[in-house]
Amino acid sequence: AKVLTLLGIESSCDDSAAALVCLDGERGEVLSSIVMGQEELHAAFGGVVPEIAARAHAEKLDLAVEAALAEAGLRLAEVDGIAVTAGPGLIGGVLSGVMLAKGLAAATGKPLVGVNHLAGHALTPRLTDGLAFPYLMLLVSGGHCQFLVVRSATEFSRLGGTIDDAPGEAFDKAARLLGLPQPGGPAVEAAAATGDAARFSLPRPLLDRPGCDMSFSGLKTALLRARDRLVEAQGGLTAQDVADLSAGFQTAVAEILSAKATRALRLYMEEAPAAPALAVAGGVAANGAIRSALEEAAAQAGARFAAPPLKLCTDNAAMIAYAGALRLSLGLTDDLTLSARPRWPL
Ligand code: KG4
Ligand code: ZN
Repeated sequence: AKVLTLLGIESSCDDSAAALVCLDGERGEVLSSIVMGQEELHAAFGGVVPEIAARAHAEKLDLAVEAALAEAGLRLAEVDGIAVTAGPGLIGGVLSGVMLAKGLAAATGKPLVGVNHLAGHALTPRLTDGLAFPYLMLLVSGGHCQFLVVRSATEFSRLGGTIDDAPGEAFDKAARLLGLPQPGGPAVEAAAATGDAARFSLPRPLLDRPGCDMSFSGLKTALLRARDRLVEAQGGLTAQDVADLSAGFQTAVAEILSAKATRALRLYMEEAPAAPALAVAGGVAANGAIRSALEEAAAQAGARFAAPPLKLCTDNAAMIAYAGALRLSLGLTDDLTLSARPRWPL
């Protein structure tokens, strides 16, 4: 097969990203990956502001593309195609990326490839760890939480997911409740290190129900109540209280994810995959306690465990370029009518 080099563009949330990836037969290689964050622009608002994100993407994406080409030592004329996240995500940001990609494709005559952001995440373990299809994937981030069986570059089966908050969102809200900084996940994990997870009994919603669906909003409410009881009784929280509440919360999330992963693994293993594997992606996969709980669940089921390096686990454009290269190798391209989709289930 021909070696394909793709430019990837990602702008579905608050990262303006561009990357170059080369696909040689089965093997993908990241030639460059530039991620320009916008944390400082949104910090004062306590969350991503869509209008600000869209404007920032419009300003930064060009620079990200230039930097990605420079880092790879390539000119635009040398790429074989232009891949772009066409959804799901914040529509203003997705539009910025899609318009830029269309412009570049029209100007160079290179094929345009629209990529589903979730497919990008889901295919990353194949790029980084060479996993064979079908593998089981848990996508856990600030916006997503779902189990997918990844069957090919274009076929995914969803086994279940959150019915309310995503775990990253729950970590961020928990941090806010405990007076910890954003992003909440790393802050809660750091606080939990010196905490006693057993001091507060927090619920494990939906664990008693069959299936792979999950729920995290009740856990957050229980954390709020436990905090309020302490504040009422003693007028505030001590550092030890914050540590214990963080540990209790983190342990509950880890237990929910690993219990549901065990169920998802059971369903997936019924298909008798030749090289069974569980992969994780998304910012929450950075959490050590959650990672070990999932690793344990995979080992129990007899599946390999794979966690891509963090910078390819969180939002980036290398995953989009790689997914785009796989699509292009199958002859799947888009024309200039490609539209940006705020919602786009796999
Ligand atoms: O994948 P990501 O960078 O962005 C998207 O949401 O798409 O994930 C960010 C989320 C945030 O909610 C952040 O709090 C969470 O991942 N996160 C963590 C940790 N590091 C980041 N959650 C728990 N533990 C961590 N160490
Ligand atoms: Zn993402």
